[in-house]
Amino acid sequence: MCKASIGIFDSGVGGTSIFNEVHALLPNENTIYLADSVNAPYGPKGKDAITSLSIKNTELLLNNNCKLIVVACNTATTNAISYLRAHYDIPFIGIEPAIKPAALNTKTQAIGILATKGTLSSQLFSKTAMLFAGNIKIVEQVGEGIVELIESGELFSNEMKALLKHYLKPMIKANIDYLVLGCTHYPYLIPILLELLPKHVKVIDSGAAVARQTEIVLSKYNLLNTEITKSKAQFFTNGRKEVMLSLLGNRFDVEYLNF
Ligand code: DGL
Repeated sequence: MCKASIGIFDSGVGGTSIFNEVHALLPNENTIYLADSVNAPYGPKGKDAITSLSIKNTELLLNNNCKLIVVACNTATTNAISYLRAHYDIPFIGIEPAIKPAALNTKTQAIGILATKGTLSSQLFSKTAMLFAGNIKIVEQVGEGIVELIESGELFSNEMKALLKHYLKPMIKANIDYLVLGCTHYPYLIPILLELLPKHVKVIDSGAAVARQTEIVLSKYNLLNTEITKSKAQFFTNGRKEVMLSLLGNRFDVEYLNF
């Protein structure tokens, strides 16, 4: 079982930002990544549709004998992880916007959150926001259109820059000092965001925390791969291979799979 792969899925290519963190921390682990790009974005879909898609991805990973699944998608985590945990007998690691560290460290008492509609309107998000950020100002912004642009390979386009400028405006006006990225596609935007934001604003995401949690849970269940062999990282997409290859810096192969 320890040589079995860690399964990772996202609505598309964004979860590769989480794969990067997991692979850097646990280079020994085999991984299977599913990019459900044909169904991206998940954000505007309702809870039931997001749950059905998450079940489909989970079952494919389980058919490939995965020992643990990382739900590398804030939208799928906030809408579907409790269902997955209740119905499947393996550990699931999820990702949620890093509101807590931002709320604990803000000096201006204002933080910004950029996430999908599905994440911002989820019960899990409201609960976390209330618990950790009840006394500060949260400027929420749905990142409409961002995932679509990344999925179509237009990460560094003028359209993206204009969209981000528009989304950041109310946050800058509210004097935020932390911007929380609540979607696994968004870490790829960091160079553009840093260009657009005032220098004192810190941009944070939860990728490294997800990797640390993956290690903790694997260790807890005695599932860490202790054999020193070259690990295998497999990537499958039902969308455009070249977009994923480029985000991965052409370091890995990507296969098309109709799922
Ligand atoms: N990467 C997904 C997330 O973290 C993107 C959501 C979407 O497909 O809308 O939320």
